Amino acid sequence: MQPITLTRFLIEQQRREDSACPAELRLLIETVARACKTIAHAISKGALGDVLGSLGSENIQGEVQKKLDVIANEILLDANEWGGHLAGMASEEMETIHPIPNRFPKGEYLLLFDPIDGSSNIDVDLSVGTIFSVLRAPENSAGRDVIEEDFLQPGRHQVAAGYAIYGPQTLLVLTLGNGVYEFTLDREMGAWRMTDGPLQIPSGTKEVAINMARREQWSPEVRRYIDDRVGCEAGPLAGQYNMRWTASMVADIHRILKRGGVFLYPADHRQPGKARLRLLYEANPMSMLIEQAGGRSSDGATSILDARPTSLHQRIGVALGDPEEIAALLSQVA
Ligand code: F6P
Ligand code: MN
Repeated sequence: MQPITLTRFLIEQQRREDSACPAELRLLIETVARACKTIAHAISKGALGDVLGSLGSENIQGEVQKKLDVIANEILLDANEWGGHLAGMASEEMETIHPIPNRFPKGEYLLLFDPIDGSSNIDVDLSVGTIFSVLRAPENSAGRDVIEEDFLQPGRHQVAAGYAIYGPQTLLVLTLGNGVYEFTLDREMGAWRMTDGPLQIPSGTKEVAINMARREQWSPEVRRYIDDRVGCEAGPLAGQYNMRWTASMVADIHRILKRGGVFLYPADHRQPGKARLRLLYEANPMSMLIEQAGGRSSDGATSILDARPTSLHQRIGVALGDPEEIAALLSQVA
């Protein structure tokens, strides 16, 4: 049987009558996928390529920048700048947006990314990933440079979202709004080959991903939900749940898409607005993937996809995964 490559998948999506994948979007996804191949190559060189360690600088979030954070950011910018399918880009590693320079043709899409998610894992050879989100530039931006406000759209407006995971295998997991598909990088063919999909989150998996060290910042509701499941010796759920935390959102979300369970990074209930994960290029794309695979996303009140962004690097409390677990969490709030 002929392998279904990413290229073939995208062309078939483009041909569908209800196509959610016009040619420009297809080219954009192919370009992002090609950049992820290059990033995978750089990561795999490790110490031999002098790509490990920190740069001594901090990004806008006050986080230490790893060499690979900056390398991956440059790879994504360079790959996507000249193709004519974008109006602008935004990245975790850049304080301000990056409008496509005037020397290049411009397109109708906006690309947002976290070049290397979980980058504290790079130096110890654990899985990291690249997360991306695609929006349409607002109609009123035609004929001018895009501005930050153009990027502040709810996640519900995303036309595509995905991640690459650089783990034991290099995978690309993608949604165009009609299911989630997994592609494995075939290094001999040099192509991404479909290896799973449409993904459906297995239900009933009793695995929770949360950073227990942040317990003090959780609301009483989150504490009750976790205490019922983890580390308790009595109660109806005692002894049933397992805990998994990789400190790489891509790896934790990938496990949930394939094996089930739930991922939580709650906001700090003592300080409104203080949370860990960024809405536009972490929470939104992951929420689209999770919801497309039959799961649920919540910021504690609504689906994350309905949250209204007010700034580029805004953070948000996140609960993602098995819809029954999210319902159980939210029933603590009620
Ligand atoms: O990008 C933020 C991130 O590194 C995620 O990938 C991960 O889920 C989380 O932060 C890890 O947080 P902590 O350092 O609290 O374990
Ligand atoms: Mn990240």
